[in-house]
Amino acid sequence: MKLLSGLTLALAGSAAAANSTYYNPILPGWHSDPSCIHVDGTFYCVTSTFISFPGLPIYASKDLINWKHVSHVWNRESQLPGYSWATFGQQDGMYAATIRVRDGVFYVICEYLDVEGKDSGVLFRTTDPFDDASWSDAVTFLAPKIDPDLFWDDDGKVYVATQGCQLQEMNIDTGEMGPMIPLWNGTGGVWPEGPHIYKRPGDGHYYLMIAEGGTAEDHAITIARSESLTGPYDPSPNNPILTNRGTDEYFQTVGHGDLFQDPDGNWWGTALATRSGPAYESYPMGRETVLFPVTWREGDWPILQPVRGKMSGWQLPPASRDVPGVGPFNSDPDVYDFEAETEAALPRNLVYWRVPRDGAFSVAKGGEGLQVVLGRNSLAGLPGGPEPEAKAISFIGRRQTDSLFTYTVDLDFEPLEDGQEAGVTAFLTQEANLQLGLVLVDGQLSFRFNVSGEVTESVVPEGWAGETVRLEIKMAELTEYTFSAALASNPKDSVELGTASAKLLSGGSGSFVGTLIGVYATCNGAGEGIDCPADTPSAYFKRWRYTGDGQYITETEMAPREVKGKGKGKGKEGKGKRSKRN
Ligand SMILES: *[C@@H]1O[C@H](CO)[C@@H](O)[C@H](O)[C@H]1NC(C)=O
Ligand SMILES: *[C@@H]1O[C@H](CO)[C@@H](O)[C@H](O)[C@H]1NC(C)=O
Ligand SMILES: *[C@@H]1O[C@H](CO)[C@@H](O)[C@H](O)[C@H]1NC(C)=O
Repeated sequence: MKLLSGLTLALAGSAAAANSTYYNPILPGWHSDPSCIHVDGTFYCVTSTFISFPGLPIYASKDLINWKHVSHVWNRESQLPGYSWATFGQQDGMYAATIRVRDGVFYVICEYLDVEGKDSGVLFRTTDPFDDASWSDAVTFLAPKIDPDLFWDDDGKVYVATQGCQLQEMNIDTGEMGPMIPLWNGTGGVWPEGPHIYKRPGDGHYYLMIAEGGTAEDHAITIARSESLTGPYDPSPNNPILTNRGTDEYFQTVGHGDLFQDPDGNWWGTALATRSGPAYESYPMGRETVLFPVTWREGDWPILQPVRGKMSGWQLPPASRDVPGVGPFNSDPDVYDFEAETEAALPRNLVYWRVPRDGAFSVAKGGEGLQVVLGRNSLAGLPGGPEPEAKAISFIGRRQTDSLFTYTVDLDFEPLEDGQEAGVTAFLTQEANLQLGLVLVDGQLSFRFNVSGEVTESVVPEGWAGETVRLEIKMAELTEYTFSAALASNPKDSVELGTASAKLLSGGSGSFVGTLIGVYATCNGAGEGIDCPADTPSAYFKRWRYTGDGQYITETEMAPREVKGKGKGKGKEGKGKRSKRN
């Protein structure tokens, strides 16, 4: 790209005072495949959710930094009946979505895998993305390929580009699809996917930006353009236009991006990245959403700024938390007491593994907290066939959104029969999770610490049975989870029950998803069908607290901490640990 030097100087001069500094990721925690738009001063992003429910969160922001979780596109089983409970692959479900707006209507298009005979594209719409209830039922369509984009051409026709990359005209009211038109195979990396089409007014080109190389170390963004929507597409001479492949950067797997303009007309992009580099061993939060400035002059190829932890680029819109709607900001701590009077619905950032069965989770009317009916199956989903597996797991959690964090929750639970169990979990998939529970073993109330199948049991200290127990999961360093317990009445005198490596929750069975932190309850297979025996006591959780304790932006450096109101000093060390670990 050649510019007159005078123009370069003028641009540099005007931008110098204004450029801003910010830190990636902007949506920390499991937030892959971001697709984002700007509408009248507000930015909206949607991310992938796979098997978790509610699915397809919408985050809204006025400043690109503070993101409020304002709705879920898929928030009622009835929007897509029968799908969730027929989904067994731990990384099936809602794949990468695209969000677009047209004439005041917001559309989110996605593909749902892998329900036999029902593998399908889904299109939802709303005029109010701040309201769960306003999201429509799904229009389904035949979708042989993942990652649908949604593009309106100037003549009003609507097109869907998918992995491959292919183009089809779509009737967005009926889901009827036109014939497949091959567009571009990419530059030779595996899995040309995640396509988005942009038409630049005045430029005369359709741009097709895609991801290539697979979603791991080789991930990259490439682009091609054509004067006709259906091609032929000519690749940019600068491909890949964004990647961290082959580098030692902490932020790896950068790819699957989307581009949009801010109110000043500056371009930005979002993509997924994993804070895993360069070893690629410990990254329990999985794929997160990063933001990068883009320079895109009319007629030119876009220039995407490389993704780092500390970024500098276009002036950001003024900092603002003045975003409408109900819902926490992604970076907020959780302070949930589950009191019936104040919390009619469960907080929006808490999700289940599939649609929960009716009545499994409720805020108890008498102030006892979050009542969780024990699931017949353990988190692993055993025993039972497909239906029990899908419906009989009682789990609820929030994304781990910080490199370091502290999570505590109080548990009231009085198991009557051996095997009745309730506790806390760091959960990646049904195969990869860490659990600390209270369980009856040979008639004695015991701790069970389960590190991906390696189980340690120990009788609780004297006097704990019948008392409220505070369970804690903490990451005080980047590579290790610590589990401990205390009497809620005496939290300083806690017992460390064990530690587990974060590598156990990195990749493997959960390479597309990210760690959730939350609670579970199970009778470990007693009972029938999807139910535990009728007299099984519920578990009650209250005083749910999650606090971020630090974000790494390189392997060794943390982002400066936000000044958070009137935070009281936390007692950190010296909490009188008694190790109960074998
Ligand atoms: C993509 O590759 C296939 C196989 O080599 C080829 O047949 C096809 O023409 C290519 N498509 C495009 C749009 O270049
Ligand atoms: C300001 O940010 C833009 C976008 O990243 C970049 O092109 C420009 O060079 C920056 N200006 C300065 C003075 O750093
Ligand atoms: C421990 O966890 C693993 C993985 O979730 C599971 O397969 C196993 O059944 C659990 N063991 C017990 C005793 O809960």
